[in-house]
Amino acid sequence: MYPDAIGPSIHYYMIRGDTISGKGKNITVWEAGTVGGEYIKTYGHYHVGKLDETYKFISGEGIALLQVLAVDKQGNMINNVVEEFKAIPVKAGDELFIPASCGHLVVNTGQDYLVTSDDSPVNFGDVNPASMPGHADYELVKQMRGFAFYVIEDNGKPALVKNKLYEEIRKTELSGLPIIA
Ligand SMILES: [Fe+2]
Repeated sequence: MYPDAIGPSIHYYMIRGDTISGKGKNITVWEAGTVGGEYIKTYGHYHVGKLDETYKFISGEGIALLQVLAVDKQGNMINNVVEEFKAIPVKAGDELFIPASCGHLVVNTGQDYLVTSDDSPVNFGDVNPASMPGHADYELVKQMRGFAFYVIEDNGKPALVKNKLYEEIRKTELSGLPIIA
């Protein structure tokens, strides 16, 4: 929400599964806290191709943001029109299935680390495993400076702030989270 806000130099850590065998799960660990009032989150991405993903929440609590962009006649995603947006509270023990066309990021709203494992591919061929994974598109999120809503701390509780760069959000499921103007 505020790119110049002061915060930790690293917001989250991704530990790749076994990249030699291509098997094993990835682990992600989020720092706790806020940056410019916004809870620490993963960057967010859309998968390239027909690739779904399941997150298992191992520790902590957070909010998963899922959004499906509208598509044009050629089937290309329109960066500033959201067909459907969901904010889903998650905690240790939960599992979350992310359909292939659904952009996703996770926000840490807890007091401690948030930890997940996921079944995304760990073998990127000749791509450096420490780099951004080849199966994920971060560009649309970068263009729009995040998803359709930011999750901020308001009197110690999570609330949503609309990202004004989005022109239209057609359907929302916000799990009762308030929207702050
Ligand atoms: Fe993903």
